[in-house]
Amino acid sequence: MRHIMVLNAKGGSGKTTIATNLASYFASKKKNVILADYDPQGSSLDWLSARSSAKPPIKGVAAFKTPPHPGRNTDVVVVDAPAAVHGKDLTAMVKHAETILIPVLPSPIDMRAASKFIQEIKHVGRVANKKAKIALVGNRGRDFTNIYWELDEFLTKQRVPVLTILRDSQNYIRAAERGLGIFEMGPVLTEYDRELWEPIIKWVNSKRSQP
Ligand SMILES: Nc1ncnc2c1ncn2[C@@H]1O[C@H](COP(=O)(O)OP(=O)(O)OP(=O)(O)O)[C@@H](O)[C@H]1O
Ligand SMILES: [Mg+2]
Repeated sequence: MRHIMVLNAKGGSGKTTIATNLASYFASKKKNVILADYDPQGSSLDWLSARSSAKPPIKGVAAFKTPPHPGRNTDVVVVDAPAAVHGKDLTAMVKHAETILIPVLPSPIDMRAASKFIQEIKHVGRVANKKAKIALVGNRGRDFTNIYWELDEFLTKQRVPVLTILRDSQNYIRAAERGLGIFEMGPVLTEYDRELWEPIIKWVNSKRSQP
């Protein structure tokens, strides 16, 4: 069973967007998926409630109330973490995580906050002992902007694997409205986004992302 968490202390960085798209990707590959929402806002569960029962099923768990209990047939647990998790709460949050994706937005405020968070999480025992592997994902990048290149430079300086910079796209908004991910939307419309996701998919399926 894979345990993949999307985590960044900064609010609005794309945790729910990436967690729900990952869950939908695995479901579309016929995997047995649990989407564990640790955020009392319940945005991942709201996304799931918009999902048609005709689509590959995903089991939602309100993990902020009761932690998930994956069964033997569970292939992957995708965890959507809340913002502002630090210290002891952060240590507890990553207790079961094997693979942690940290989304970062192209904004000076977000990059500064991410820099502190990356330093903090590197020192959490589970990460320091390589029982959980972290990787960075740029999110909401816009081509031909200076801040895109500043984000790119920032990410490569962190001494943590950098997977990709996802673009800012209405496809994510459209997909979210219907409880879908970009891999379940029209292939032509989402071709470029799927390409940008490819390194994330490779990473989460690789041995390097696991303890
Ligand atoms: N790549 C993207 N393109 C367009 N919109 C995006 C993208 N990523 C995220 N968004 C939008 O940005 C907003 C914040 O994203 P999201 O809810 O995924 O962040 P979050 O880190 O889960 O926030 P919170 O900390 O509040 O839980 C949402 O409205 C989402 O639809
Ligand atoms: Mg969220």
